[in-house]
Amino acid sequence: MRIVLLGPPGAGKGTQAVILAEKKGFLHLSTGDILRENVKKGTEIGKKAKAFMEKGELVPDDIVIEMMLDTIKNAREQENFILDGFPRTAYQAKKLDSELDKLKLPIEMVVYFKTSIKVVTSRLAGRRLCSKCGANYHIVNMPPKKQGVCDKCGAELYQRKDDSVETIKKRLEVYDGQTKELIDYYKAKGILKEVSGDLEAQKVYSELSEILNTCEADDRHKVGR
Ligand code: AP5
Ligand code: MG
Repeated sequence: MRIVLLGPPGAGKGTQAVILAEKKGFLHLSTGDILRENVKKGTEIGKKAKAFMEKGELVPDDIVIEMMLDTIKNAREQENFILDGFPRTAYQAKKLDSELDKLKLPIEMVVYFKTSIKVVTSRLAGRRLCSKCGANYHIVNMPPKKQGVCDKCGAELYQRKDDSVETIKKRLEVYDGQTKELIDYYKAKGILKEVSGDLEAQKVYSELSEILNTCEADDRHKVGR
């Protein structure tokens, strides 16, 4: 199954994608993580993307589309993947659809994380990440056992540069102006599902699992007919 996770910054897309990858074996493709890796390594993509990311603006469509389509085409496991943070503009969505149609791997489900601004703002401001393994924490909601230290590998935790108050505000404006319209785009295609992103992570996962189970049951039903 191919799934897109859609929602504002801080909605919990990355958190849920990691759980789905662990529990259900999906390949997790996060545009933000791939871009940050490119910035860290100083690749051509990273050099072009860095300034946009630090300002909380979208990286230009052509750069992101090429990067993500290459990633999908080169993935060993192409059948079951989660796109986390892509597409984020109508242009990206249309390009993705036309390329995946050619590969006969269309997006089957888009999960919209319905989340309030107040919740996402406090989640982003309190997020901390492991500098070594990338594990995701929140200083209040999901604190590490020892402050500033990763539970999984013992490395130091850091705060993302774009999680500053000003950049969070910009990212939310960008989401409202350029990404939110994808809710209607996927609703019109009849593949949009919704989860209550404001709930605690385990409850969001329960809603997600239920949606997935229903879809799998529908698929089995269609095959059996
Ligand atoms: P990206 O890294 O994708 O950032 P984002 O979309 O702003 O989303 P986040 O990663 O901030 O939020 P999330 O929904 O994953 O939340 P998380 O699970 O971490 O993109 C960064 C930048 O890259 C963009 O600004 C842009 O410049 C560029 N970019 C990326 N994709 C692009 C594209 N397609 N086109 C152009 N440019 C692109 O959770 C947040 C926090 O809350 C964590 O601390 C977590 O522990 C906590 N938390 C999560 N869920 C819960 C819960 N249910 N209850 C309580 N706490 C929770
Ligand atoms: Mg994320």
